[in-house]
Amino acid sequence: MVRRIPTGIKGLDPLIEGGFIKGSAILVTGGAGTGKTIFSLQFLWEGLQRGEPGVYITLEEDVEDIKEDARRFGWDLEEFEKKGLFKLVYYDPLQVNEMGINVVEDIAKINAQRVVVDSVSIVGMMLPNQMQIRKKLISLINSVKRTGATSVLISEVLDSDEKGLSRFGVEEFVVDGVIALYYFGVGEGIARSLMIRKMRRTNQGTNTYPLIINENGIEIKNDI
Ligand SMILES: Nc1ncnc2c1ncn2[C@@H]1O[C@H](COP(=O)(O)OP(=O)(O)O)[C@@H](O)[C@H]1O
Ligand SMILES: [Mg+2]
Repeated sequence: MVRRIPTGIKGLDPLIEGGFIKGSAILVTGGAGTGKTIFSLQFLWEGLQRGEPGVYITLEEDVEDIKEDARRFGWDLEEFEKKGLFKLVYYDPLQVNEMGINVVEDIAKINAQRVVVDSVSIVGMMLPNQMQIRKKLISLINSVKRTGATSVLISEVLDSDEKGLSRFGVEEFVVDGVIALYYFGVGEGIARSLMIRKMRRTNQGTNTYPLIINENGIEIKNDI
């Protein structure tokens, strides 16, 4: 029996048999402003509500900005940080070589059950070729997996390459699941959507589902 953990994203769990498989690594991919950071924070916040410690690893954004993003949705991460149940860590992209070990330490320190890496695209940018990127990502993912934590890895797709699932074309192959977020400007409105592109060992929804962002975070509209 596989254990599944609720994602915290309203409307998503019914599309993936109840949640992410515990201990799996899920890539969340999309262009700028598609909601990747909010998705990840919501995933961690859900864990905190369930007593599962969480770590947010960032290689690009200011830690204060991320906390501020979360606060907008009423997710007070600092409260959990003070209690030792949450950790927000910035890594200089130049540190990618030691990252795997350090991330495992960060996870172990608070016994984190949920981990976010924002973003693996930055990890890839520091390496010379696809082979190296693949090796590094596999080693990073396996290090995290050995801890038993469930991870969400963010992959930033360039707007000029919206059809791609990841910047380097390797990220999607080394994970257990891929969730793609899209953003289209239509007329005066914005249409956001989500598609589950890969979810190992899961009978998943196969449509493109409307996604909305409101004061409560992300919500997926499905007919289930
Ligand atoms: N309270 C809100 N209500 C509606 N939309 C919001 C709200 N807060 C943020 N957004 C939308 O979310 C976007 C940012 O999402 P984010 O997760 O930071 O994107 P990404 O990490 O993919 O670049 C903003 O560009 C904005 O369109
Ligand atoms: Mg972001």
